[in-house]
Order: sequence, then C-alpha cells, then structure tokens
Amino acid sequence: MKILVTGGAGFIGSHLCDTLISQGHQVVCVDDLSLGREENIKHNSRTPDFLFIKLDINNAEELEKVFSDNRFDCVFHMAANSDIQMGATYLSVDLEKTFMTTFNVLEKMKVHGVKQLVFASSSAIYGELDTVLSEDVGPLFPISFYGAAKLSAEAYISAACENFGIQAWIMRFPNIVGERSTHGAMFDFINRLTENPAELTILGDGTQIKPYLYVADLVDALIYAWSHATDQLNFFNVGVESATDVTTIAEIIVEEMGLKDVSLKYTGGDRGWVGDVPHFRYDLSKIHKLGWKAKRSSDEAMRLAVCAELAKRSVN
Ligand SMILES: NC(=O)c1ccc[n+]([C@@H]2O[C@H](COP(=O)([O-])OP(=O)(O)OC[C@H]3O[C@@H](n4cnc5c(N)ncnc54)[C@H](O)[C@@H]3O)[C@@H](O)[C@H]2O)c1
Repeated sequence: MKILVTGGAGFIGSHLCDTLISQGHQVVCVDDLSLGREENIKHNSRTPDFLFIKLDINNAEELEKVFSDNRFDCVFHMAANSDIQMGATYLSVDLEKTFMTTFNVLEKMKVHGVKQLVFASSSAIYGELDTVLSEDVGPLFPISFYGAAKLSAEAYISAACENFGIQAWIMRFPNIVGERSTHGAMFDFINRLTENPAELTILGDGTQIKPYLYVADLVDALIYAWSHATDQLNFFNVGVESATDVTTIAEIIVEEMGLKDVSLKYTGGDRGWVGDVPHFRYDLSKIHKLGWKAKRSSDEAMRLAVCAELAKRSVN
C-alpha cells in the first residue's frame, strides 16, 4: 500500500515508518521538524520505498501537492504537539499542531478520496476519571489542552467517517517509551543525575503510577488493529496491563547508571505538574479480544528505554 505518515520524523512516527517499509509498504513521511528530527529517518534516505517531505501540514498548498502527487491508500496521522506541558504556556499550540493538522488531513482525504485513517490519540482524552478507563466511559472532560485537542480531533474524525465514508482507527496511547524518545520523567532524571549523582529531587510524592508501553509494541498494535478491526469507526485503548511508579523509574535509572547511595527527595503532592494525570487504569479487554497484547511489561519497557538513552549518550 502507499501510506502517508504524518509526524514521521518524530519518535513514534519514525518507528512506524521503519516497520511499514519492512512490511513492503511505500511510505511518504511528512514532518515540519518542529519536534521531530531528520536523524530519526536518515537511515531510510536511500530506501526506494521511502520519501521524506519537510512541510507544515497546516500549509494547505503544500499539503495539497503531497496528496495530488500521490495516491494514498491510508494515512497514519501521528503529527501533533507531543509536549503536554507546553500547551499550558502557549495556548494555541495544541489547537494548531493537534487539532488543525487533523482537520487539514481530513479535508485532503475527502478531496482526494483517501479512505483509511489511523489516528494517534491519547489516554489524556479521559481527563481524571476515578474509574477503570474503558473505551465507553464518559462524559469526557480532559484536564489538559493536549487532551482537549485530541478529543476534538476524535470528534471530527467520527463526523468524517459519516460524511466522507472514511474508515478510521482511533488508537488511544498511554505513555510510550523507547529509542528516539525525547521527553518525559526519564530524561529529566537522567539529566539531573548526570549533573548531581548524589541526589535526585522528584516532582510530587513519587507514587504517580502509569503504564509505559514500549514503542515497538505500540507500532505492532497500530498495524494489528488497522489490519484486523473492521468497523467503520474503530477505537481502542492500547497499552500494557502493568504500570511503573515514579520512584521505580528513578531506581531503574540509578541502577543502570551504576550509581550508589543516591538520595531521593520529593517535592510532595500527588502530581508532578498541572495537567498531569497522576494515575490511571486502562481497560484493555477490547484490544485483547481483537487478539493483540503487549510483549513487554511496563518496567521492562522503561528499562529498555533507559538503557537505549544511556547507550546513546555514551556514544555522543
Ligand atoms: N509519546 C507518547 O507517550 C504519546 C502518548 C500518547 C499519544 N501520543 C501521540 O503520538 C503521536 C506521536 O508522538 P511522539 O511521541 O512521537 O511525538 P513527536 O513530537 O516525536 O512526534 C510528533 C511529530 O509531529 C511533527 N509535527 C508537529 N506539528 C506538525 C505540523 N504542523 N506539520 C508537520 N509535522 C508536525 C513534529 O515535528 C514531530 O516530529 C502524537 O500525535 C502524540 O500526541 C504520544
């Protein structure tokens, strides 16, 4: 198939491009490199089935050219603002990078008759519901602009399915970790322990606990759902049954950095920052019933990500 991957130079998008190419698809990757990096995709630069185009999806003329130059079978829309905290400071960032990019992609899909869309949504759409999060809980009130933009984008995709005959797979990711990732508690801890290996201050009380899914497992889930779920509008929580708390993340890093006697200090409170959801429990029965399960536990995923980041730093 000929597939458009938006945000394909980002952390998740670049892994997705690799896997789609390895499965024999032709991939066109668009990214404005605002958050993504060319080094994530440069290993594919001589691959005949891969084309990178640097563009802002919100530039309608440039996006039109990409769609008119290619007959896409499917779009994997990964482009977004991926920095949740940034949305509280720069109010338009989630509107532009998450919602408007989705709107523009949907419009071009309509004009060019592209019928399949896989969308990177997020657990952030659920806000802070004190319940196990199955796909049909509600009403939904996100507590970050990031979550609000993802939920609005989901609503537009639903309407596009009805109005343009599109088939969509809305995939709600938890926290994803692995090679090429660029932010999150893990980076912060590694940076601060590199500066001061004797002490680490942790935001919150250390009990914030979340499932961390390994990026290769996520890519596997996206492609699995796309090829196995057959409704017009498919929507899934994707994740891992286990979870890792913040103190355990710090302990994994301390161990893998080979440090001893590190004093862990806590700022206190139940969350690290405004807009953070300190814990959530995902109901994964829908995607498990479809036949997909994560291969790595949350702790294993975190350790793989820590080792990859430390190995990268030792080379640079
Ligand atoms: N990483 C996670 O833990 C996580 C969790 C839930 C959902 N998601 C979603 O998964 C997707 C990928 O996330 P990621 O972690 O790889 O983030 P990322 O920042 O590495 O990737 C997003 C990419 O989109 C690109 N982009 C942003 N605005 C653009 C625009 N206007 N035009 C073209 N390109 C644009 C960025 O340059 C970047 O390469 C995002 O939609 C994100 O919201 C990620």
